[in-house]
Amino acid sequence: MGKQIAIDGPAGAGKSTIAKIVSKKLGFIYVDTGAMYRSAALFFLKKGVDLSDEKVCSGLVDEIDISLKYEDGAQKVILNDEDVTGQIRTEEVSNSASKTAVYPAVRAKLSALQKKIAEENDVVMDGRDIGTVVLPNAFLKIYLTASVECRAERRYKEMLEKGEAPDLETIKEDIRDRDYRDMHRSEAPLKKADDAVEIDSSDMTIDEVADAILNEYKKR
Ligand code: DC
Repeated sequence: MGKQIAIDGPAGAGKSTIAKIVSKKLGFIYVDTGAMYRSAALFFLKKGVDLSDEKVCSGLVDEIDISLKYEDGAQKVILNDEDVTGQIRTEEVSNSASKTAVYPAVRAKLSALQKKIAEENDVVMDGRDIGTVVLPNAFLKIYLTASVECRAERRYKEMLEKGEAPDLETIKEDIRDRDYRDMHRSEAPLKKADDAVEIDSSDMTIDEVADAILNEYKKR
């Protein structure tokens, strides 16, 4: 069994940025579980099936093969032999992922894969249900949050930098919708594990958050 750090929290709180820094500092593997849910959604989109049809989506789960590869420290996501690292980063895939992530068959498949990776490696794993469901015995659990306004501003700036023409109010709405879906689904909803350390990153720099987590790690 590897050493495990679980980082959960809502979309846009900075989990992946922080998890990448912390994993690099500790020499652990970074596992982005959101990328797995995105890849599953991309699979359904490519198949052209109705994402709201649980039966059809669940019936296709066995055709999904997702693996992670690491090149120069960067995580690549492979979906059925295709590198989908770039394709899973669109708003369409993002919104679809939060819809198909509610299906128990999808969650069972991906959480089994996540557990296996954590058994074989030291990991920093980020997601929504890592500390509560996937790695309930993790060595360190972090619940990373930030206000909706702050998360929307960050996303807005990212999109501007990419040359897109974002609308701040639409981004806020999307974040609220996604939070609601992630927190209110019956299967593995987003919530803080009882033994998780909560960090609100709204008024913190990236380095401050990473240091806070590394300090918690050293304390244990
Ligand atoms: O973190 P992200 O935005 O890449 O995640 C995409 C979607 O996948 C998100 O809406 C919730 C879902 N997800 C999940 O249900 N459980 C996880 N462990 C990780 C992500």
